[in-house]
Amino acid sequence: MKYNFDEIINRTHTSSMKWEKYRGRDIIPMWVADMDFKAPQPLLDTLRQSIEHGIMGYTLIPDKLNELIIENLYTLYDWKIEKEWLIWTPGVVSALNVACAVCGSSFDKIVTTTPAYPPFLTAPSNHGKLLATVPMIEINQRAALDYHALEKEFKSNNTSLFMFCNPYNPCGSVFTKDEINQLVELCTKYDVIICSDEIHSDFVLDQNKYHIPTASISKTAANQTITLMAPSKTYNIPGLGCSFAIIQDENLRKKFKSRSKGLIPEVNLLGLFATKTAYKECHEWLAQLIVYLRKNRDIVQEHINKMPGCRLNPIESTYLAWIDVKDTNIDDPIAFFEQAGVGLSDGKFFGQKGFVRLNFGCPRSVLEKGLRRMAAALL
Ligand SMILES: Cc1ncc(COP(=O)(O)O)c(C=O)c1O
Repeated sequence: MKYNFDEIINRTHTSSMKWEKYRGRDIIPMWVADMDFKAPQPLLDTLRQSIEHGIMGYTLIPDKLNELIIENLYTLYDWKIEKEWLIWTPGVVSALNVACAVCGSSFDKIVTTTPAYPPFLTAPSNHGKLLATVPMIEINQRAALDYHALEKEFKSNNTSLFMFCNPYNPCGSVFTKDEINQLVELCTKYDVIICSDEIHSDFVLDQNKYHIPTASISKTAANQTITLMAPSKTYNIPGLGCSFAIIQDENLRKKFKSRSKGLIPEVNLLGLFATKTAYKECHEWLAQLIVYLRKNRDIVQEHINKMPGCRLNPIESTYLAWIDVKDTNIDDPIAFFEQAGVGLSDGKFFGQKGFVRLNFGCPRSVLEKGLRRMAAALL
């Protein structure tokens, strides 16, 4: 079956966070990270069946779903996990907050890199922890980890947790085995747990790269890591709130579960059904989506780099473009591009001013229209 990612679907009046922001204004929303594509047909059929059944009761994770995750991780990454290591959560952000809550004691430090997915910057203080940020460095037009600066942070005072995003939102880096090894070594040396958010793992666009789960590289890494994964970005079902954590270390897993009690609800019924069908029957849709996104990425890459004052590094993964607009000398780039009819995410919320993030997970005609508007405004 050939999926039609060119189809324009009207999302106004659907309680969409992305589209409601600009309701009634001629501004194309290219900000928050959900895509404007319909979820795969088999997944939609499953949801329909579930609704037709008519009873939306409390859930229990089916064994078959756990087995499916275990099988998928093995097939994709040669990573063997056990059923007991899996903890289902109604969202990755909830899980990373639980990670912040359970690692270390009050006023311990949690480290992450900037620019960062905004909840990474707010989660530590939600749980009485201090946040320290280490800027990414640019090496050969690519955002990379600054191990020296990280070591300096880990050394000074109690760092309990490092929040890692791989593939990296917003810069798109897909970390290599060497890079991950070096990070794990450093974290082990200073007894720092790694919370590895791998929600974007299915979006590797660079054909010379592949995703490696942090915990999969060694026994040490597995013992040191909380892995967070979800079908939500991949199959465009973030509104169904379904994700899972993988924690091998028994003690850490117990703490994570106990801290979640009474606060983190069960995964909802539709999310569970959708997840099962996504991982079982939607590989073809995903393969076609990646082809479509690669072309969108090429278009973004070409057009943005022609715009005066804008710079965009090659995008290895995700459907997000992290654009350096400092040389435009525009004071408020978000207001400027909104005026031009395009709604982007502001770098300042990621801890890096002078950047905007553009979401190219949309039909090509919409993307091209947005890029035309940006180019015209900058001329
Ligand atoms: C790195 C990262 N983690 C987590 C999330 C959100 O996860 P969830 O909707 O499951 O809470 C996003 C969404 O953009 C993301 O980019």
